[in-house]
Amino acid sequence: MDKIIIKGGRRLEGRIPISGAKNSALTLLPCALLTDEPLTLRNLPRLADVDGFGHLLNQLGVSTMIEGARPEDFGRVMTLRASRLTSNVAPYDMVRKMRASILVLGPLLARAGEATVSLPGGCAIGNRPIDLHLKALEALGAEIELTAGYVRAIAPQGGLRGGHIHFPVVSVGATENALMASVLAKGETVIDNAAREPEIVDLCRCLVAMGAHIEGIGSEKLIVHGRDRLHGATYRVMPDRIEAGSYACAAAITGGSVDLVGANADDMTAILDVLMQAGATVEVRKDVIHVSATGRLKPVNISTAPYPGFPTDMQAQFMAMLALADGVSVLTETIFENRYMHVPELARMGADIQVTGRSAVVRGVDKLVGAPVMATDLRASMSLILAGLVADGETQVSRIYHLDRGYERLEEKLQAVGADIERIGSD
Ligand code: UD1
Repeated sequence: MDKIIIKGGRRLEGRIPISGAKNSALTLLPCALLTDEPLTLRNLPRLADVDGFGHLLNQLGVSTMIEGARPEDFGRVMTLRASRLTSNVAPYDMVRKMRASILVLGPLLARAGEATVSLPGGCAIGNRPIDLHLKALEALGAEIELTAGYVRAIAPQGGLRGGHIHFPVVSVGATENALMASVLAKGETVIDNAAREPEIVDLCRCLVAMGAHIEGIGSEKLIVHGRDRLHGATYRVMPDRIEAGSYACAAAITGGSVDLVGANADDMTAILDVLMQAGATVEVRKDVIHVSATGRLKPVNISTAPYPGFPTDMQAQFMAMLALADGVSVLTETIFENRYMHVPELARMGADIQVTGRSAVVRGVDKLVGAPVMATDLRASMSLILAGLVADGETQVSRIYHLDRGYERLEEKLQAVGADIERIGSD
């Protein structure tokens, strides 16, 4: 298995292009199931998860064609066409590797009247149940059966019908499944306490481009007027706010000066606010966010929350940064119960972090020291890369397949701004 080797201590300076958003791409791809016409997605990031999702859709009968992108380009254009679905089953082998596979449930059910998807099971950052996804589909008239590790959803005679969905907690994934199912349901669906993440807005805009009628986009109350059919569309995936936030941390932690090109600051208010509280300078110019820092960063207290709060997907990266701040920071993770897997690895590099329940107390140290460390999940991996960029000596990060799920050509982007980072085969 590949490893990433980083020699720390380089100040990062230059421009980093921001890719299309992984979390948006993974909910736009299943929209192809909703129509027999072509859906063309632009600015798709080149990521293992995007490829994996393409393969899952192929198994369901969706053709996928990648157009014109040269190997040196970031982003790709993919045209998906589900002229005729050949299967309505998402098998265990696919879902196991990629949790986002659960997002085929809603659109498949809406289009085919029936969908069977393997239960995703637990995962490294907590239990991650799907009960809210299922309740939402039941509110649209679906019958749900759980058997042998699979969930089977069956639409009533005549198809799904509009309903009232109230989420007791904000769920990004459940809101996405509810939206993709309700756009083809008969009549009106109200989704209360919907997630408001920019990726949900991206999904709504793509669905509208396909002919869906959705009111309240960007708010916690979505009203969907079901259509008999949707049509094809061309849609550009939004920039990845978590990738941009991660590289903003890389600039700040190395005392660097970096332009995040193509990022959208409007989607990143909570992230940029905390960066500035920590003492970094942030300047926004059109679609470029400039982040720089000098000297030691200040401690900050952070609590993760659904959008527009501070994203759980940035908690690990900020922890790496605050491990070197001048004082004590307290981080509280309110979304997932087990999202501190990076703490023991950061501790191996000299960080002083104590976890009690959902909170982590981070006492800033003067320096981190390079060490062999292991990636445990996608964002945790990035926190180790950030620590490695600033640590004394060499850091070896193993299990980097996690990174390949979510960061397009990470080493290339960091090398271009001066990092000493390379990928090697482990043998
Ligand atoms: C979550 C994050 C999202 C992030 C993604 C990957 C939030 C609100 N969601 O999205 O920003 O990009 O992880 O790290 O920040 N829940 C249930 N039952 C369900 C579904 C969810 O109890 O059926 C709970 C979860 O356990 C969790 C909370 O709801 O505590 C939010 O989960 P959800 O938003 O659904 O997770 P993802 O869609 O994976």
